Amino acid sequence: FFKVHQPNNQWITGRSRCLGLTDVSVVLMSVLLSLRVSEFLTVGLSSVKRKRGNYLLDTLKSIFEQSTQEELEEMVVVVHLADPDLEWNTQVVKDITARFTPHLLRGQLLVIHAPPECYPPLEGLKRNYNDAEDRVQFRSKQNVDYAYLLGFAANLSSYYLMIEDDVQCSKSFFTAIRKAVASREGSYWATLEFSKLGYIGKLYHSSDLPQLAQFLLLFYQEMPCDWLLGHFRLMLAQKEVIRFKPSLFQHIGLYSSFQGTFNRLKDDDFEADSLDLPDNPPAVMVTDIDTFEAYLPSKAYSTIPEYFWGKAPSAGSHFTIVFHQPARISRIQVYTGSQERNRDCLHAGAVELGSQRQGNGKGCSLYTHLGAFEGGRFERRGLENSTAAAPECVRILVTENQSEWLIIRSISIWTKPNS
Ligand SMILES: *[C@@H]1O[C@H](CO)[C@@H](O)[C@H](O)[C@H]1NC(C)=O
Ligand SMILES: *[C@@H]1O[C@H](CO)[C@@H](O)[C@H](O)[C@H]1NC(C)=O
Ligand SMILES: *[C@@H]1O[C@H](CO)[C@@H](O)[C@H](O)[C@H]1NC(C)=O
Repeated sequence: FFKVHQPNNQWITGRSRCLGLTDVSVVLMSVLLSLRVSEFLTVGLSSVKRKRGNYLLDTLKSIFEQSTQEELEEMVVVVHLADPDLEWNTQVVKDITARFTPHLLRGQLLVIHAPPECYPPLEGLKRNYNDAEDRVQFRSKQNVDYAYLLGFAANLSSYYLMIEDDVQCSKSFFTAIRKAVASREGSYWATLEFSKLGYIGKLYHSSDLPQLAQFLLLFYQEMPCDWLLGHFRLMLAQKEVIRFKPSLFQHIGLYSSFQGTFNRLKDDDFEADSLDLPDNPPAVMVTDIDTFEAYLPSKAYSTIPEYFWGKAPSAGSHFTIVFHQPARISRIQVYTGSQERNRDCLHAGAVELGSQRQGNGKGCSLYTHLGAFEGGRFERRGLENSTAAAPECVRILVTENQSEWLIIRSISIWTKPNS
């Protein structure tokens, strides 16, 4: 059986073989199609009772508040209340109904529940990675929780976004995701990532969901969900992680859902107010800083979560982005150092805009100073009119010798559309 919650506090029950995910979706599709036209995005999350700090309602609030009416027209949010305690589920349904009735009525929010009798065994599981028994049980059940959610979400929209129940969303994340998807048009991908963390902000083609759901069910007791998701990407032959920066989702919880243990994992690439993702116009990177092994300059400029790593730069060293075409830049953001190697940030440096590209393509002849790095970071908006002609280079200039090496973690550039 499978239940969908209705705004009038009734559960609609879909009958199916418990593990026949396809059947489950078919049963419920008719209900849903009568409510909504075709969607671009389904946002799915699963929630269970927590020992401390419940953030589900805050998460839903954030999803709806950070989206415009137009965006909500093409989005549906599915919450899987996956706790075996029916009383808890019922109470949460009441809380959700009290706060989100309009969204429930418009079919923008669906609440589902797969009853415990549909679950595979959760006792006597394999103790891979020497995980404690209760930990294994928790993560195994979570895999099944998500499998049911995915099975249900399979045909609701073109794309599916996985988040958790303790997430803060950035403004207009929907539009940012739509732009990111458009930017990958014509190239193959299985997963696009909009956060560094666990299984927050992972985007899938909905057509892959039945397979992913079956995969989670098959290997539910082997390893945590986020690892399985990584394996799934590799099996669908996407070798590299494709992560977009800035991140669109952040943990709000201080406590994880497992036993309320303290969980401080935060995404330092999160942007609370990022209506758009950086464009990073096509360019070549040129630097006279000695590059360490394969930490190539291009890695600072791509969406891949790798970085440039150079050996102790001296005053006057540069890292220059030379655009293929002049770019009307509106905003620049540069992050140096990393969480693990905070000392390898740029201790003293500046950012400049360049014009009059040199014939050899290695830089520009004329530079305009924009400002200095502070705490290893540089951020400047409103650059549209800072140079007479559209810049052809952006140069990061080292202004003091430093004995530490230099990590340039990300360079983000936003351009004005050529109107
Ligand atoms: C999803 O929709 C497609 C096309 O409408 C259909 O062929 C497929 O059987 C559906 N899958 C599920 C799981 O309902
Ligand atoms: C840039 O100049 C245009 C035209 O003069 C003006 O409309 C716009 O507000 C300026 N932008 C900024 C960020 O100063
Ligand atoms: C900075 O380093 C260069 C060579 O790496 C050296 O020639 C110069 O004297 C150094 N400057 C200072 C101020 O230490």
